[in-house]
Amino acid sequence: HKPLLSQCYNLFDFEAVAHRVMTKAAWAYFSSAADNEITAQENQRVFQRIWFRPQVLVDVEHVDISTTMLGTKTSIPIYVTATALNKLAHPEGEIIFTRASHKHNIIQMIPTLSSRAFDEIIDARGDDQIQWLQLYVNKDREVTKKIVQYAEERGCKALCITVDNPQVGRRERDLRSKYTESNGEATGGNSPNHGTSNLLDPSLSWADIPWFQSITSMPIVLKGVQRVEDVLKAVEHGCQGVILSNHGGRQLEFARSPIEVLAETMPVLRERGIEDKIEVYVDGGVRRGTDILKALCLGARGVGIGRPFLYAMGAYGQPGVDKAIQLLKDELETDMRLIGCNKLEELHPGLLSIRSLFDH
Ligand code: FNR
Repeated sequence: HKPLLSQCYNLFDFEAVAHRVMTKAAWAYFSSAADNEITAQENQRVFQRIWFRPQVLVDVEHVDISTTMLGTKTSIPIYVTATALNKLAHPEGEIIFTRASHKHNIIQMIPTLSSRAFDEIIDARGDDQIQWLQLYVNKDREVTKKIVQYAEERGCKALCITVDNPQVGRRERDLRSKYTESNGEATGGNSPNHGTSNLLDPSLSWADIPWFQSITSMPIVLKGVQRVEDVLKAVEHGCQGVILSNHGGRQLEFARSPIEVLAETMPVLRERGIEDKIEVYVDGGVRRGTDILKALCLGARGVGIGRPFLYAMGAYGQPGVDKAIQLLKDELETDMRLIGCNKLEELHPGLLSIRSLFDH
């Protein structure tokens, strides 16, 4: 029998329940990652190589974990990242994330390959709620243009272009199960045409960024950046944000964890005095308040969360997602007190020991 929701004390508890109650195929699709899944494991393991240097005797009676992302207020520096095919977790799919995000005042990134109609996800939006669009760039640029401009017209507040996916990574759990990627996320992913289709354009390049800027006034965020050199290029190209991400380990096996890339990136931005020119986000492997805190200390503006919310949805529907977000809020607030900070602006790398971060 299924444990009660009240018996879920952290995000891993949802994962265990989801594994039991979801269909085998849905579990395979959500949990899969590229090749031997080493990068997917590393995304979580990297946090074990970072330790805290808390400060004591600070008045931490009133802790505030709210912040702004791309200029809009949010109650906690996390957002629901884009994951395709949410209906595999629950018949209501992406709309559950819309409602839970609204309830908690956090941002939802809507996937291009949502399983609910885009308009349904927009119509479910609450007052003042912020949604961003995740974009897979279609080979037919007229299609891409229509998607982008329609999203802007319907009130999306950022364009997050996925750049780590010129073709779909090789995910063997998926290959073995009947719900292959060809059901949605980049159709044709496992077919003999090497994972390309109209839904993904492998010719996408830096030269296309000005075109995106010409068709939209939404801020542009590049999702899937994996080295400081490309963060600098994003700044040069006038992008407002980058998301350091390896797609939850689903794309290039042995891509480094986003946290390691973050630790490489922020000192360079600071050295050049351009850390205010771009907002840097990370996603991948975030499961605990301390994970969020470590990313923020290293200089991230916020973190995206994928699988844990899918598992919470698969296990308990919207109440599960509500609780998962609440748990992260409670953990982060506790961790802020214990590290000796009241506000997120007070966090800095000096609160961490990262001596072993780069040792593998
Ligand atoms: C994803 N991700 C993803 N990213 C994207 O840009 N477009 C997409 O359609 C999808 N689809 C998708 C499906 C599933 C099942 C997963 C698990 C992931 C990647 C996602 O946005 C994010 O980078 C990772 O999920 C972050 O890692 P965690 O939080 O899942 O560890």
